[in-house]
Amino acid sequence: MWKIGNIYFIAAVAVIGGALFGFDISSMSAIISTQPYLCQFNQRGHDENGLCLGPTDDVQGGITAAMPGGSWLGALVSGIVSDAFGRKTSIQLGAIIWIIGSVVVCASVNIPMLAIGRVINGFSVGICSAQVPVYISEISPPSKRGRLIGFQQWAITWGILIMFFICYGSSFIPGTAAFRLPWGLQAVPAGLLFLGLVFLPESPRWLAKKDRWEQAVEVLTLIHGKGDPNSPWVIRELSEIREVVEFERANADVSYFELFTPGMINRTQVGVFTQIWSQLTGMNVMMYYITYVFTMAGLSEPGTNAVLLPSGIQFVINVVMTVPALLWMDRWGRRPTLLVGAFLMCFWLCINASLFAVYGRAPYPGEFTSTAESMAVEGPPAKAIIAATYLFVASFAPTWGPVSWTYPPELFPLRLRGKAVALCTSANWAFNFALAYFVPAAFANITWRVYVIFATFCAAMFLHVFFMFPETANKPLEEIEEMFDDTKPGSIKYIGTPAWKTKNTRNLALRQERNETLSAEEKMGVSGEHKESAA
Ligand code: BGC
Repeated sequence: MWKIGNIYFIAAVAVIGGALFGFDISSMSAIISTQPYLCQFNQRGHDENGLCLGPTDDVQGGITAAMPGGSWLGALVSGIVSDAFGRKTSIQLGAIIWIIGSVVVCASVNIPMLAIGRVINGFSVGICSAQVPVYISEISPPSKRGRLIGFQQWAITWGILIMFFICYGSSFIPGTAAFRLPWGLQAVPAGLLFLGLVFLPESPRWLAKKDRWEQAVEVLTLIHGKGDPNSPWVIRELSEIREVVEFERANADVSYFELFTPGMINRTQVGVFTQIWSQLTGMNVMMYYITYVFTMAGLSEPGTNAVLLPSGIQFVINVVMTVPALLWMDRWGRRPTLLVGAFLMCFWLCINASLFAVYGRAPYPGEFTSTAESMAVEGPPAKAIIAATYLFVASFAPTWGPVSWTYPPELFPLRLRGKAVALCTSANWAFNFALAYFVPAAFANITWRVYVIFATFCAAMFLHVFFMFPETANKPLEEIEEMFDDTKPGSIKYIGTPAWKTKNTRNLALRQERNETLSAEEKMGVSGEHKESAA
């Protein structure tokens, strides 16, 4: 079968899985307040004007959370599927499951059917969100790996934006088409993902692990050798992969539990916390509950959906501000990007906490509809809150957003990568689920202090990154392993090279990819910290 070797094209198809993730995040937001939806899934009867009141709060919470709940499960099992059947096959399986879930939600006539459809959709997103980064990381050249996996985040932001506006637009259609249309349309990209993948090569590293060396060489030749199996890059990469596969076969304990052994637990905590922290930045407060925040800042007009437009703007900012990361994240390196992101988000959250604390008042009875809208601010401080919220989104988008996907697959050895990334991604979904559930109650009970809590998390993640997260940008995956396994003087037992001593060695990586020969000393310097710690 004819296969496509252009790495950008491969990434572009694979990240459609990311768009499904984005649909997942915004698939409810603009729909849950529409009459067709509230009447179809009505449990609470009608108000005095004859309008449907829809499901109870708890049941609505359950319907919303069904998706991240399913995603958590999907992410967790994806590692087993991906290691057994291949990266590509597992993503294709995800696409098929998404289509089934979309048919069920689109056709749903009652609450159980809707909830089951959302669990199925979530399951699919769990698989794709975990295995797309694994696939891309194993197929990319080191100097572009960050950018290529970063495309997944870009696709997520596009997915959120597109689905938000499709739902918003559909909410004006009379009848149940208001929700059936967007929930049916979302199946289309999954069809494209499935078909597109037929023409993409399997991960060469997974093929090698399965002893399918001939195919592994073919893929490397196609994607990195410009058709020449004897290109120095292909030969070097192949020998690195062979070394690792043979070593792993001889020495490794190839089970899930290895992630928790002394030699591996450090990587596991770094990877899992990359995803946990990305959730604890508070970004999804902005994604899920922006309308609450902007209502408190005076942007809503009773009886209208005026608050939706400024909310939509933040989704646009999210898409646009991911672009700098795609262009420069490999140049910036992972550590500086995470540190700057944590610092900036902490700053904007503190500004919002202070503005709400100093200028906020309790809302008048009947002023707002949700108990989560627990403060009201007017005038210039309200404008400052809106600005700081946009700036917060603009700080997450080029930093923790993309790096939270790029970093985990880089940390783990081949034999564990599928399962390890599955575990990290499931942590994303577990915290995503928890935040979606608890944030409204938190706003209702502790008002502006919610911002203080997230600011504290940002400060904690800054320190955690500084002391524990090593630089991985531009290093071949096999060399990252050496960094963690480093036992030379200056290294730390079970941790390897201290994180703050690790460096981004971009120039050397670029030269290697251009097939320039490096001197023995320079080769050592590809992971410059080895030299340093040996000194
Ligand atoms: C996070 C999502 C979030 C999205 C926002 C992703 O990296 O995992 O939870 O909604 O970014 O762009």
